[in-house]
Amino acid sequence: MPSFMDQIENQKSKIENPTAEWDQARHWVESETGMDLSGSRFARLREAVVKSLGRKNPEPELRGILARPEQQAGFLERLTGQLTVGESFFFRNEHHFRALREQVLPQILAENGSRHEVRVWSAGCATGEEPYSLAILFDQVLSNHPGWQVSVLGTDLNPEFLQRAREARYRQWSFRQTDIHQDRRYFTLEGDIYRLVDRLREHVRFAILNLVKDVYPSPLTGTVGLDLILFRNVAIYLKPEVTAAIMRRFYEALRPGGWLLLGEAEVTAAPQGAFEIRRFEQDTLYQKPSGRSPNTTDNGAWAFPPLLASGTVSAGVALPNVPALPEWMPLPPNRPRGTATTASVNSPDVMVWEQIDKALTAGHLDDAERHVDRITVTKQRATLRLRFVRSLLVRAEVARARQMLEICLKEEPLLLEAQLLKAGFADEAGDLATAEQACRRALYINPSAPMAHFQLALVLERKGDGASVARSLKTTLKLLQGKDPHSLVEFGDGVCHGRLKEMVSLLMSK
Ligand SMILES: C[S@@+](CC[C@H](N)C(=O)[O-])C[C@H]1O[C@@H](n2cnc3c(N)ncnc32)[C@H](O)[C@@H]1O
Repeated sequence: MPSFMDQIENQKSKIENPTAEWDQARHWVESETGMDLSGSRFARLREAVVKSLGRKNPEPELRGILARPEQQAGFLERLTGQLTVGESFFFRNEHHFRALREQVLPQILAENGSRHEVRVWSAGCATGEEPYSLAILFDQVLSNHPGWQVSVLGTDLNPEFLQRAREARYRQWSFRQTDIHQDRRYFTLEGDIYRLVDRLREHVRFAILNLVKDVYPSPLTGTVGLDLILFRNVAIYLKPEVTAAIMRRFYEALRPGGWLLLGEAEVTAAPQGAFEIRRFEQDTLYQKPSGRSPNTTDNGAWAFPPLLASGTVSAGVALPNVPALPEWMPLPPNRPRGTATTASVNSPDVMVWEQIDKALTAGHLDDAERHVDRITVTKQRATLRLRFVRSLLVRAEVARARQMLEICLKEEPLLLEAQLLKAGFADEAGDLATAEQACRRALYINPSAPMAHFQLALVLERKGDGASVARSLKTTLKLLQGKDPHSLVEFGDGVCHGRLKEMVSLLMSK
């Protein structure tokens, strides 16, 4: 039997001289998760693989998994569970919540006074303490102001965390910096478990979203036109260029004037340039400038390097597999339109759209709408209406976007994309019956659209209809068989067949 010192030397040598399969594993995990596992961090990967596979010498299994893509989604999930910390607690960083309560929320509420709607996103929410703290905060601030609709979205890459978040049952340790659990308006005590009351629990939506691989901003994921994004204690192990790319996506996902709150780990890669820096007593927040084109700075220059759009940061540094910005996102004037644009530059759609976009950018929404109304060809009008809906969402004109979508559906009820958007709106508003109906209408239009089955599965999951969820996921999977994993899913807002398949597998394995 090797001596203790021999065993240590053996381990050390394995860490310093990784074999081909370990090298391959490291590259794979880095590109899937955006993490930096080079140098001394490699030891963490080894430890995570050993734990995930439950073997001291996991090389044979690891080789098998690397060779079989169908096993990779579940394994990667277990692995990232080991590599990331899911630790969270209510009202974490009391000073952050003070800045939100005293400085940020009053501004958001003043700005949104005419529409009485607020939309916030906790990105990397772990087991839900952060989004629920936001829901409680808004409830407290708005207690004397009825009629507001606050939508809180919590996303994470780990479906197990999200499941626990949905249950909203917490132990004392989750309240280590607050006594909010003593407040019976918010929590009931069941044995030694504090359970968040349904009124607030139902208020927060949870969804799988890997910030390094998934599509955002998108109305399908509720990540567009946001007032506030919290991104805290998530980027600890991410490569700085990946964190920067995520921040750029957040910039796109915020409405003009929207806010970004970062944790300490994220501040080191804090965005420079495009955001306005707002300093409060102990905190710095980042605000997207309002009142101008959503993507440009004062001199019209692009303030962030177009990381995600180009797919590289600088020569030789490849970004993880993130889809390009969706075609409907407004582009800055000095950046050429991407290859994703399907219409030719001189096509009538593009020319009319340019007029609409100009009016929208100038804030002349009625003029923009008149341009659309004037189009006589029904199909062209409907297509541009949908694009208009998305542009309204980028500007957080949610009520108007909903109205426009309804007009569009009245004129062209057989537009699958419009039905999916409607499902997204209804889901966000908690109207699950309408969301289900819109998904079913989408399926009536095209029974073999994987995205429609997938969206239906998500809605049914929120309704707690387990058997139907399983059926919809199975059908989605069947429709994805044989598709090129890198090709785009129709109506998926940029999601690839491979990623959709992965998400379905994750949901099925729960
Ligand atoms: C320490 S928790 C932070 C929770 C909460 N934001 C807070 O500050 O209390 C980090 C979370 O980020 C999630 N995470 C890590 N990488 C992620 C990614 N690429 N996309 C989405 N979530 C990610 C992890 O699964 C984990 O739940």
